[in-house]
Amino acid sequence: MQKKQRVLFIGAGRMAEALFAGLLHTSKEHIAEIVVSNQRNQERLTELHEKYAVSTTTDWKQYAADVDVIVLAMPPEAHEQLLTELSPLVSNQFIVTVAAGIGPSYLESKLPKGAAVAWIMPNTAATIGKSISLYTAGSFVSKGHLEILQMLVKGIGDAQLCTEEEIHQLTAVTGSAPAFLYYFAESLIEATKRYGIDEITAKHLVIKMITGSASMLESENNPAMLREQVTTPGGATAAGLKVLYENNFMNMIQEAIEATNKKASGKTIQL
Ligand SMILES: NC(=O)c1ccc[n+]([C@@H]2O[C@H](COP(=O)([O-])OP(=O)(O)OC[C@H]3O[C@@H](n4cnc5c(N)ncnc54)[C@H](OP(=O)(O)O)[C@@H]3O)[C@@H](O)[C@H]2O)c1
Repeated sequence: MQKKQRVLFIGAGRMAEALFAGLLHTSKEHIAEIVVSNQRNQERLTELHEKYAVSTTTDWKQYAADVDVIVLAMPPEAHEQLLTELSPLVSNQFIVTVAAGIGPSYLESKLPKGAAVAWIMPNTAATIGKSISLYTAGSFVSKGHLEILQMLVKGIGDAQLCTEEEIHQLTAVTGSAPAFLYYFAESLIEATKRYGIDEITAKHLVIKMITGSASMLESENNPAMLREQVTTPGGATAAGLKVLYENNFMNMIQEAIEATNKKASGKTIQL
């Protein structure tokens, strides 16, 4: 990277914190300054300043013209108004959003012609540096912008470069499906408690089973093979799996993904 970057975050919530903490952790040598802003919550800004020594402001407009990168880490619904205010201040800043449904084509339509924009869709594990993030760039990004984008996603975990269309389709899998997995965990905890096991023990057993299985998945990369390894034909696990097959578990998951996408496309901001 040719020069150290000044990065302004508009929004100071969980995702902004995950991103700038990631930058400070993995790419500090490329960062000149991080400025974090929110609308109202001064207490939150003080907390972030004390924890990370970042600059903070409740008036992002003071900084917008002088930074290299602007990360929009506030709700999707706030983007339209914010982009209207930001547009006159944009010359060659790189504008990146992490908001659900806000693709590069929308950003380009609201910003001056030729603006360099990008979209990152992290997931909740970004807060512990373990997101699988989807990302894409607009039509006017340079090689240097792509390097900055990769630096941003690297700080919060793993990432996959996609088309804008793919991000709209795949956010259900990487962004929403963690909620499905947490529900699976809740369901198993309830099943465990039915044998008279207390909540703390039930949670411990289920969470350790899931994290161990996730590590196996990561090392073997083959869920079907792992399932077969655990399943003796005609055995006890097979009897349990039969219930999932008979209730069409795979179909249920597909329907959940489709329902998520249907709802998200209704909310996607159309040009
Ligand atoms: N959390 C996740 O797992 C996750 C995953 C993927 C994508 N995202 C996206 O990340 C974005 C931020 O999410 P979050 O989880 O960080 O939310 P959050 O913790 O609720 O924080 C939202 C931040 O946005 C600020 N804000 C709200 N309205 C604003 C406006 N009009 N102008 C400027 N700042 C404004 C808030 O400031 P005040 O408190 O002062 O209002 C707050 O600092 C969202 O677009 C979300 O879709 C989140």
